[in-house]
Amino acid sequence: MALEDVFKKLVAHCKEYGYVFPSSEIYDGLSAVYDYGQYGVELKNNIKKYWWDSMVLLNDNIVGLDSAIFMHPTIWKASGHVDAFNDPLIDNKDSKKRYRADVLIEEHIAKIEDKINKEVEKAKGRFGETFDEQKFRETNPRVVANQAKIDEINTRFSVAMNDTNLAGIKQIIVDNEIVCPVSGTRNWTDVRQFNLMFATEIGSTAEGASKVYLRPETAQGIFVNFLNVQKTGRMKLPFGIAQIGKAFRNEIVARQFIFRMREFEQMEMQFFVQPGTELEWFKKWKETRMNWHQALGFGSENYRFHDHVKLAHYANAATDIEFKFPFGFKEVEGIHSRTDYDLKQHQEYSGKKMQYFDPEKGESYVPFVIETSIGVDRMFLQVISAAYDEELLTKEDGSTDTRIVLRLPSFLAPVKLAVMPLVKKDGLPEIAEKIVHDLKFDFNCQYDDKDSIGRRYRRQDAIGTPYCITIDHQTIEDNTVTIRYRDSMQQERVRIDQLTVLIKEKVSLQSLLKKL
Ligand code: GAP
Repeated sequence: MALEDVFKKLVAHCKEYGYVFPSSEIYDGLSAVYDYGQYGVELKNNIKKYWWDSMVLLNDNIVGLDSAIFMHPTIWKASGHVDAFNDPLIDNKDSKKRYRADVLIEEHIAKIEDKINKEVEKAKGRFGETFDEQKFRETNPRVVANQAKIDEINTRFSVAMNDTNLAGIKQIIVDNEIVCPVSGTRNWTDVRQFNLMFATEIGSTAEGASKVYLRPETAQGIFVNFLNVQKTGRMKLPFGIAQIGKAFRNEIVARQFIFRMREFEQMEMQFFVQPGTELEWFKKWKETRMNWHQALGFGSENYRFHDHVKLAHYANAATDIEFKFPFGFKEVEGIHSRTDYDLKQHQEYSGKKMQYFDPEKGESYVPFVIETSIGVDRMFLQVISAAYDEELLTKEDGSTDTRIVLRLPSFLAPVKLAVMPLVKKDGLPEIAEKIVHDLKFDFNCQYDDKDSIGRRYRRQDAIGTPYCITIDHQTIEDNTVTIRYRDSMQQERVRIDQLTVLIKEKVSLQSLLKKL
């Protein structure tokens, strides 16, 4: 199946099974805004817990924070967002479609990269064991020419972006004959800047309202509270502050479902370190965060780092963790070495010292910062795309059937356990209800007695429930039930009094955290 079709099915599945709904759907929706349904909210909460505990519980030098969405407007002036949180936009005059000029260029580069990779794959097949990929990439004339094209575009692109040279960005589009994906023409407007922050007013008009912004990142709430937390928590460098919260961006091109939204949630951690040690910490956090992703078991081949060539003026190192979505490798998380830029800016704009007194050195300085920043919604999309599976089953009579199953890691699954009486009589529902009543204090259970047992299993597979318990007539005799495993569909008989321990161990966050 084409990857595009897989993605469409995934989006439809999320809606059909109560994971994600378009916002304001009965009013025809609101572009790039989504609501999470009954299962979506559970999965989202579990993702947040996995992140939060891996930061705050496992590290005694990382503490949490929950800062407000509204902040003093000068914060956004100091952080550079008022002047520089812009995307370069360009319109195609024929299709009337609007694009991010930088994305058009990046997609063009990705197409050339694809060509190179196809060439390499073909050669790999031809030469087999003896294939020397590095040598091939350095000597094959087509690969060398395409790589040279990429390097040339990257160099020009990086200079133009750093200088905010909008004419230069347009010239790259013109010179590379990049066409509008809809009209197929090169009839472009000039490139213009577009600020991504949403603004609103605080206070009544009578008092004189003032303009405030909806935060475009949670990080600034951490920076401005740096001293509050450091002093009240008596924190010593190196230490981190973690925060989960909503962020808002008026994205020009909002698409790919919950990948790029106008209202989304971030999980950010700022790690404050001694100047000069930041690159060591950057390396450490790169590894730590990649392990966090890979511990979910979706396959290490589905992740890669994308180190930034083009660094923001305040950063001295930056990388993205990319995941292989159905629409290709894309950023899920950013890890940035942000130097002392933000704290220094706030020091200058607020007139308050943002310094740390180092008792060992006997001196005060502005710490450097490593930031890890991941979108909850993008992580959600990573998990659900990796978990979605259509499995072809061959029945006893030789016919085939497709089983749709969400292979969610047990800890992340919204419902851990479905409890089903085989029939709705003979006292079986009462036993099932009692089991739910006893287990619901430990994990999310669901009672289900509608339809045939096979259909009930399929319903639970589709929402990703890892375990189903069936109560049958043997249960009345010996207090045992069958447990059915979602992934293997294997069943085994266990005693009712063993259930809590058995399932608790399988669905606990502890076993996931212990892998880190
Ligand atoms: N404080 C740094 C910062 O905000 P960013 O790369 O702009 O950096 C960090 O965003 C993460 O937030 C991204 O890796 C992505 O997961 C998520 N994110 C950013 N914009 C988003 C959007 N429009 N919709 C959903 N998630 C988004």
